[in-house]
Parts: sequence; C-alpha cells; structure tokens
Amino acid sequence: MQKGKESLGLTESLDSGLGLVMFDALLAHFAGHEHVPDLDPTLIKAMRLEFESSEFFGQDMRHLWIMLESIVTKSMRDPGRNEDRMNLLNLACGYCEEGAVLSAFWGRSGKKVHQFAIDLRDAEVDKAKRRYALTEKIFRKAILPNVRELSTSAQSVEFIADDAIHLAGYGQIPSQFNVIFIRHQNLWHDRSTWQRIYDFALSRLTDDGILIITSYFDREHYLALELLKMLGGNVLVSERNHLSRELSYPGKSIDRHVAAISRSK
Ligand SMILES: C[S@@+](CC[C@H](N)C(=O)[O-])C[C@H]1O[C@@H](n2cnc3c(N)ncnc32)[C@H](O)[C@@H]1O
Repeated sequence: MQKGKESLGLTESLDSGLGLVMFDALLAHFAGHEHVPDLDPTLIKAMRLEFESSEFFGQDMRHLWIMLESIVTKSMRDPGRNEDRMNLLNLACGYCEEGAVLSAFWGRSGKKVHQFAIDLRDAEVDKAKRRYALTEKIFRKAILPNVRELSTSAQSVEFIADDAIHLAGYGQIPSQFNVIFIRHQNLWHDRSTWQRIYDFALSRLTDDGILIITSYFDREHYLALELLKMLGGNVLVSERNHLSRELSYPGKSIDRHVAAISRSK
C-alpha cells in the first residue's frame, strides 16, 4: 500500500490525498479488512481511474467523505465505539451512489459495518444494487488473486425495496442502528411521510447513535431540523457544506446542508 501512496503523491493536494485515504478505506472494506493486499501502484492507479470514471462520481464521493469527517468530529460523538460491529441504515437511499463509501467511512478504523439501504422505489433499488456491484467489481478484480476468501459480512450492503417504516417488520434487521443516514430528504413534497420516516429513524438510534441528514435546499433543511426537534431530536450540529456542487435548479446543490442529530435523553 505504501508503494502506491508514494507513486501517486500523497501530499500533492488535499483532494488527491483525501482520494487516497478514501480509496484505501474502500480497498480495506472490499478485502474484508483482515487481508488488505499490497497492490502494485500501477494497478492502484488504474483502479482509481476506473472508480472516478463517471461524471462527478469520484468528486462527489470525496466531498461526501470530507463532509462526514467534519460533521462527525463536530458532533463530538463516536457511535458504536464500544462495539466491534456497526449497524448502519441508509433510509430513502434512492440509487445510493454512496453505498460503498459509507461502509468504508464507518469501517475506516477496521470495524465491520453492516449496512442496510432501503427505498420505496424498486427501480432505484435496482440501480443501487448495480452501482454497488460496479464498485465492488473494480476492487474485487484487483483483490481476489491475493485473497482466498472475501468476508461477506464486511463487504455487504443489503438493499431493500419497501417503505422505510416497514423495516420494523423484517426479523433479520437490527432493531437499533449506530448511524442512520438520510441523504437529500424530500420534505417539501410530502411532509407527513417524512415525519413518519424521521420518527422511525429517531426511534431506531442506539443511545450513542447519530442520525445524519443532508438537504438540497436551505429552507428545506431548516424545516427538516424544526420537524426533527419537534419529534424529540437533539440537533448536535448543522452546517452549510461549502464543497457542495451546485445543480442547475436555483438554490439547489448536492449535500448543501448536513446535520447530525441524536435522540434527546
Ligand atoms: C430526494 S430522493 C433522495 C434519494 C437519495 N437519498 C439521494 O440522495 O439521491 C428521496 C427518496 O425518498 C424515497 N422515499 C420516499 N418515501 C419513502 C418511504 N416511505 N420509504 C422509503 N423511501 C421513500 C424516494 O423513493 C426517493 O428515492
């Protein structure tokens, strides 16, 4: 791994340095942590290019990583610190481009992460599975010759197509989560649905758990925080994400705001 870092210039720029940190964490995630192979630098470079090949994907994922680091540090929380496994829930995940990166982020210190990702729409969940499989393929291709057996528990994301609150009815799904992530809520379109989703999320957090939400718009974020407070959430930190990528609709940008919320005691 060290060889790869040197040849790619770890300190060249913050973004490229961060890309390597994230890339290493992804590699460890897909290798099941215990068997991270020492890959040839040329191969690492080719994998990074492949990972970054679709428009904005690599950049958005690096910025998501920075956003998570910032919000988690400022929240002063370390969810799951006394456990050897993290339960992570991505609610209303859509096509979930962040699936692999979320698992890699929460598993960056070597912890196993079991992620569940749910969305109402079958088509989005299908796309999410394909997106994850594509990322996995890039890493597996390189890792497999060096690793006899990949740990399934460390690498998997379980994608479910259903109403978020029906999760309660799935016996094999944990009753509580260390981290719940809701990216780009849609409060404006259907407040009552999002009230149910937020209520469900708060009720499913462990004592030291955090709910992380992001929003596309300023006002929508403010309304989401008000609603969460009304439901008993404690807003630990909320910030404007300055790495947010502007979209063509006025005032809308990717992960424009982010907040970490805990359950009130
Ligand atoms: C604005 S999209 C965000 C999707 C994704 N998180 C993202 O960042 O691209 C909101 C998502 O909420 C999902 N959704 C709406 N109501 C839901 C429910 N009751 N249960 C699960 N997902 C729901 C929609 O299908 C949609 O994919």
